[in-house]
Amino acid sequence: MHLKILLLPGDGIGVEVTNEARRVLEAVATKFGHTIELSEGLLGGAAIHQTGSPLPAETVEKALAADATLMGAVGLPEFDNVSPDKRPEKGLLGLRAALEVFANLRPVRTWPVLVDSSPLKNHLVEGTDMIIVRELTGGLYYGTPRGIENDRAVNTMIYTRAEIERVSHKAFQLARARRKKVTSVDKSNVIENSQLWRRVVVDVAKQYPDVELDHLLVDNCAMQLILNPKRFDIVLTENMFGDILSDEGAVLAGSIGMLPSASLGEKKGLYEPVHGSAPDIAGQGKANPFGAIGSVAAMLEYTFGLTKESAAVNAAIGKVLDSGRVTADLKLKGAPATTQQVGEAVCEAL
Ligand code: IPM
Ligand code: MG
Repeated sequence: MHLKILLLPGDGIGVEVTNEARRVLEAVATKFGHTIELSEGLLGGAAIHQTGSPLPAETVEKALAADATLMGAVGLPEFDNVSPDKRPEKGLLGLRAALEVFANLRPVRTWPVLVDSSPLKNHLVEGTDMIIVRELTGGLYYGTPRGIENDRAVNTMIYTRAEIERVSHKAFQLARARRKKVTSVDKSNVIENSQLWRRVVVDVAKQYPDVELDHLLVDNCAMQLILNPKRFDIVLTENMFGDILSDEGAVLAGSIGMLPSASLGEKKGLYEPVHGSAPDIAGQGKANPFGAIGSVAAMLEYTFGLTKESAAVNAAIGKVLDSGRVTADLKLKGAPATTQQVGEAVCEAL
């Protein structure tokens, strides 16, 4: 198969982790006899520096021309006091919208060797295996009017039935291939948006009678995620709740550096580790590349349907984890390996 992929390293550790992800991509392609056509583009702070815009038109064109895009991370401290409209993050939000990737899949699993890496008790985290399905192109992130005027600020949360339906279908379809349980998360005791959300999810669920559906209010979900993570199979929620809950989920996995993600729409796929640009450790070889490498596995599976190849990458990640050649954030015994050494180890394991 011919894989047309755009690489957007972005800012901070995004550069380092996508380097290793690219190496793994090339190794898996060679092993299974696929060809890769790789292009590179600018996004985020790196794009602002070179072009003045966090999302140059050329980047959107390249992403639309590729089958899938692999993104590193965006964000730099020098933009901390800049308005959301001109920040590096705006580039990522624009890209998600341009690619119409409305369903963001964030698998949260606790690899057996990492049960001690989480601050939570072993018996709680052991065996955790869920996918957070986050709606990605609606809600507070995109609603207008928005703005800040002197001492008054406005954001708008809008969802339509159609937007909730399409992401719900993704969640129920995923559940069918797993433990057949969807937990929909909302704040329907306070927010009208959530009342519509719940109503639509209940309607969609009628088409999946084999899948169990339950509902949690988001505050309770935040608690249940760490009290009883094994109760979750698919967690379905809106954009901002999903952003917050997935960082909490990272604690179950031992490090946010472990979490990959896949953002899917009707046509394109965007793949990115869940972590940010971590400017405090950027350029030091300390960044954990497993989230980015896991995102390559997700790309192989969801965009290209290459399940064997995807499983091979995940198995290689597992092998390297077991060997202990990992970065310091995972708190395993032995000298910490560098980002590059971990990438090399995954290629060797492949
Ligand atoms: C994420 C990030 C982004 C988000 C930021 C960088 C815009 O936190 O992907 O979780 O909020 O979606
Ligand atoms: Mg986030």
